[in-house]
Amino acid sequence: MTKKVIKLSANENCYGCSPLALEAIQKKYTDVHLYPEANPIALKGKLADKYGVTTKNIVVGAGSVSIIDGLIQTCVAHDEEVLTFENSFIAYGQFSKMHNRNCLFAPQSSLHCDPENLLPYINAQTRLIFIANPNNPTGTIISHTQLEGILIKVSKEIIVVIDEAYSEYVTDPSFPNSLELQKKHPNLVILHSFSKIYGLAGLRIGYGIMDELIATKVSRHLVPFSMNYLSYTAAIAALDDMIFLSQSAKANAEERDYLYNELIKLGYHTIVTHANYIYVWFDRNEEKKITYDMLFHHGIIICDLIIFGQEKALRITIGYKEANKKLISTLCGNII
Ligand SMILES: Cc1ncc(COP(=O)(O)O)c(C=O)c1O
Repeated sequence: MTKKVIKLSANENCYGCSPLALEAIQKKYTDVHLYPEANPIALKGKLADKYGVTTKNIVVGAGSVSIIDGLIQTCVAHDEEVLTFENSFIAYGQFSKMHNRNCLFAPQSSLHCDPENLLPYINAQTRLIFIANPNNPTGTIISHTQLEGILIKVSKEIIVVIDEAYSEYVTDPSFPNSLELQKKHPNLVILHSFSKIYGLAGLRIGYGIMDELIATKVSRHLVPFSMNYLSYTAAIAALDDMIFLSQSAKANAEERDYLYNELIKLGYHTIVTHANYIYVWFDRNEEKKITYDMLFHHGIIICDLIIFGQEKALRITIGYKEANKKLISTLCGNII
């Protein structure tokens, strides 16, 4: 009998995606011989209405990573710099390196991306700052006041990108209202993904809300037809399914409390998370490896943060109830 693998490594939505999105794709799949629209105006219109902006402020890409890539290529010259935090989403550094842009990494304070820590790293070459909020992999957040603080302090010439790929999971009231801040600070770019709570990771679709001039530059850069109409169709339908969204967020909030409490009881080093994953760190690399291997052996795949350059840490996606129970009982040695 083959063992059922539990994948808790990529922060996907363990509850799948909206049934409305699946239904919408099923109605459309026979059209695959046709090219999609080059400019997904229906989806942009829906997003523009949702956020109270115009379609010219919306950029849709093949995953939000494609917009990160576009921002680096179009807004940072070869002699200019990108700035982000250590222990954050790897794409910022990876794409900078790929395009020969220097990327600096400010330190965290107790696993938090404190924007004040960016200040000593800002210089005349800085063009783009990336802040993942919640931060991947630590799950920590910055508050509205902290984001506003950095926007007041940095030059308007510097674009500050707030990457809110996991924002729909956040329940903390101090979380920024980035749209409000964008009205006062047009150098603020907001990124969102359909890969996380919307459960459409396999369809590769994400978007950004930004000043029209930045949006025009980034859009010109995107590979034409890199998204397809199945992604657009699913995304439009998913935006209508508030029930799926709130059920996913509620279940995640319950399960994250369970996992956090159980991990603490077992003596693991971890930190309160605001997203759908939890960060666990170890004193020694060997301890981390033992934990990873034990879970792997029992069919539970988590993320070894060696891929983020961290030898002593793991990231566990918060799964559905039975998956989390199995994870905890495996860690306890009472394998079910
Ligand atoms: C902080 C953050 N931003 C962006 C992304 C990329 O999302 P997408 O699948 O939309 O490219 C991820 C994916 O893990 C992420 O963790």
